[in-house]
Amino acid sequence: MSSRSDEPVFPRHFVWGASTAAYQIEGAWNEDGKGPGIWDTFCHRKGRIFEDQTGDVACNSYHLWEKDLKCILQLRLTHYRLSFSWSRLLPNGTTDHINEKGVAYYNRVIDDLLANHVTPMITLYHFDFPQSLQDRGGWKSADIADIFDSYARFCFQTFGDRVKLWLTINEPQICCTMGYEEGIFAPGLQELGTTAYVVGHNMLRAHAKAWHSYNTIFRKQQGGLLSLALNSDWAEPLNPSNPDDVSAAKRHRTFELGWFACPVFSTGDYPVAMRARIEEISKAVGYDGAPRLPRFSEDEPPVLGSADFFALNYYTSRKVRAAGTSHRELNMKTDLELERIIDPSWPVCGVKWLAVVPEGLRKLLKHIKVEYNNPAIYITENGFSQIGPVEMEDIQRGRFYWDTLCQVSKAICEDGVDIRGYFAWSLLDNFEWSDGFSVRFGLFHVDFSNEEFPRTMYHSGKEYAAIISKNCQHS
Ligand code: BGC
Repeated sequence: MSSRSDEPVFPRHFVWGASTAAYQIEGAWNEDGKGPGIWDTFCHRKGRIFEDQTGDVACNSYHLWEKDLKCILQLRLTHYRLSFSWSRLLPNGTTDHINEKGVAYYNRVIDDLLANHVTPMITLYHFDFPQSLQDRGGWKSADIADIFDSYARFCFQTFGDRVKLWLTINEPQICCTMGYEEGIFAPGLQELGTTAYVVGHNMLRAHAKAWHSYNTIFRKQQGGLLSLALNSDWAEPLNPSNPDDVSAAKRHRTFELGWFACPVFSTGDYPVAMRARIEEISKAVGYDGAPRLPRFSEDEPPVLGSADFFALNYYTSRKVRAAGTSHRELNMKTDLELERIIDPSWPVCGVKWLAVVPEGLRKLLKHIKVEYNNPAIYITENGFSQIGPVEMEDIQRGRFYWDTLCQVSKAICEDGVDIRGYFAWSLLDNFEWSDGFSVRFGLFHVDFSNEEFPRTMYHSGKEYAAIISKNCQHS
């Protein structure tokens, strides 16, 4: 861990933010004309979520926005990243019907932020897909790309006079694998081996269409920037002198980040190694259907170059070891053939998957610089959770923000990575998907047992605020 004398340094216009997502904080799941989303359906079925909890009320941010705003101002954030609930704006997912109350809610949030000199960054889709579109095939169906494009255009048209930073889709890799392969996220499908690739493909097509719409119709007048938020762990070989582990770690990077980053930032197609690997495994398993990894059509807007910056969500690192399978089953595990290991020297705090490895972020940032042509990067999510009895004096989490920002500072100053901003996940304790409210990522504690849902700043929030006030040079 770095020492306090090792002060981090940031460029003059560095952006200081925190992130949230609609389903995780808003509540009001069926109020004021909102249509149902797949997370409503998923959580209302028993046995899916920790103690069958739901986001029906969550932090009640739909009714308590002023409280969230106070938190944002207390931290002195320059930016706040939130997501729109697609079905709050368009109850059946299409522009056939617009819910004016949903529009009014987001107008108010955006206007309040701007009135307080906080810049909004909006995610159009953060896991909470409209149920009525899911019923028509959702991301599996090719026409979703046009439907998403219409939703995006509607948002640019309605809010783009004030919103200048857009993200289309949050973490497509997580949506595809957890939602369609493993089934532990909504819509809870376990269609092994092909669906995740089809869904990912339609997400990329949808994203590219929306970027091109923005670029040709809105950019000139609105002057904003648009990207998609990609998640990635840092992966390195367990034994660097074992070539099998080295290729397994590469495979991990290719299938996690490369899957979406390569088409957008590098070649316009999936990584060559990914296509080759999937073909090889398909053959070995005796699969002779349509190619599992689709091809981009030349008749559609190109996916290459469809991002104005690189948005990265980073949480953790893994050591990777090659792990042979019998090649009998068609699924993503077989495609990957690897084991993900947490190095014993890495502290694991809060949730089991989250080994705390701030230096992994620096390595990943450097990798992105080299691999994806030195893009401007925003770290759009990064954080560390607590579970069990609440600790308001969460010293370790405070330390985590310090250590992480030291690594970000080194990536900027020593590695020359073009990092424009950092968004902590999350502003508030909130509904942590399958873990319900048992896992707390907030800079602010939320008392879910009190009907006023009071928000109280943790020690870690104070630490983050102190780093911001020391380094923020915005006027
Ligand atoms: C998601 C957030 C989530 C966080 C912590 C990210 O994958 O974008 O919605 O709460 O990780 O698990």
